[in-house]
Amino acid sequence: MPKKIRLGLIGCGGNMRGAHVPRIQEDRYVSIGCVADPVEEQANQLMERYGKQVPYYADFEQMIRSEDLDAIFISSPHSMHYEQARLALNRELHVLVEKPLTISSRHTKALIALAEKKSRFLQVSYQRNYYAEHTYARELIRKGVIGELRGMVSYVTQNWGGIRGWRLDPELAGGGMFMDTGSHLVASTLWMTGLEPVEVSAFMDNADKKVDINAVVNIKFKGGAVGTLNTFGNTLVHDERIAIHGSKGCIVFHLHQWRVRDVLVNNEPMQIPARIRETSPDKAFFKWIRSGGKGYETPDFALQVARVSEAAYKSVEARKSVKVAR
Ligand SMILES: NC(=O)c1ccc[n+]([C@@H]2O[C@H](COP(=O)([O-])OP(=O)(O)OC[C@H]3O[C@@H](n4cnc5c(N)ncnc54)[C@H](O)[C@@H]3O)[C@@H](O)[C@H]2O)c1
Repeated sequence: MPKKIRLGLIGCGGNMRGAHVPRIQEDRYVSIGCVADPVEEQANQLMERYGKQVPYYADFEQMIRSEDLDAIFISSPHSMHYEQARLALNRELHVLVEKPLTISSRHTKALIALAEKKSRFLQVSYQRNYYAEHTYARELIRKGVIGELRGMVSYVTQNWGGIRGWRLDPELAGGGMFMDTGSHLVASTLWMTGLEPVEVSAFMDNADKKVDINAVVNIKFKGGAVGTLNTFGNTLVHDERIAIHGSKGCIVFHLHQWRVRDVLVNNEPMQIPARIRETSPDKAFFKWIRSGGKGYETPDFALQVARVSEAAYKSVEARKSVKVAR
């Protein structure tokens, strides 16, 4: 019987309740030991969803200092991730953080280094990296099936018309649609291709909000490939496309309404081997903890994501292309 993993949750909002609680409940050897959220009603709704009362803390720091835990899940506004993850890692806890890991490349680098120093697992909850299609595409690209990478075009759309609260506050969100949903696109593209961004030139439009709603981000990569990652936040629904072109072929993804619809490899439907199964960031995280790290990779791609995001916002401010920090 595996040892029980006892979790502390920070941030009891929509995503923690709707995405993580069900995944936690799938594993009978994982339990929610306690929860933190400054808004008690949010914690109450989470416990109702979980079907059990657990100790509640208004202050995450007090929770981490008082409870005996194995790991922490963080699903709070973006600018809070860094302090919350830092405290948890310093208390020798494994940490799963929602995207983006932090809103600065300096903080992202510091967290990755801290996790390594403390020998703790740091998971950034990008679920696309656990889809069978994305996993297999990464494998094909690594094997050279589409040759040397030459160009990439991608976009994600969403309807931000009804968005309220912290997502529209630059201090809490660190940016708009590009920092938020765009982060999935940047992460999955960089994770699958392994491309290293070196220079960025971006345009953004806030559409009368305080944060970006639409963004066009052009990137030069090490080795000569070029690409564009775009986010359109004032459209009807979610739609997401990624086309990756190499010297020997291409892989083209289409996601719509949060589901993978088609993936074409050299214009033929992708045939995914049975050995590749969809999993989730949560399942992978529990597996690392139980196995002492089998299959764990430090989330270096999250640092590339932070660097691209930072360079994109700098480019908009400076109205010129900027080098990506190293
Ligand atoms: N992976 C995905 O597909 C996905 C989807 C949605 C959201 N997210 C991410 O999840 C995170 C939360 O988003 P959400 O949609 O659940 O937002 P939300 O507004 O529904 O929830 C945020 C919660 O954080 C709480 N909070 C605020 N300050 C806090 C603090 N100091 N300590 C602890 N909790 C605090 C709020 O009271 C609220 O309950 C973000 O990082 C977001 O980008 C990821």
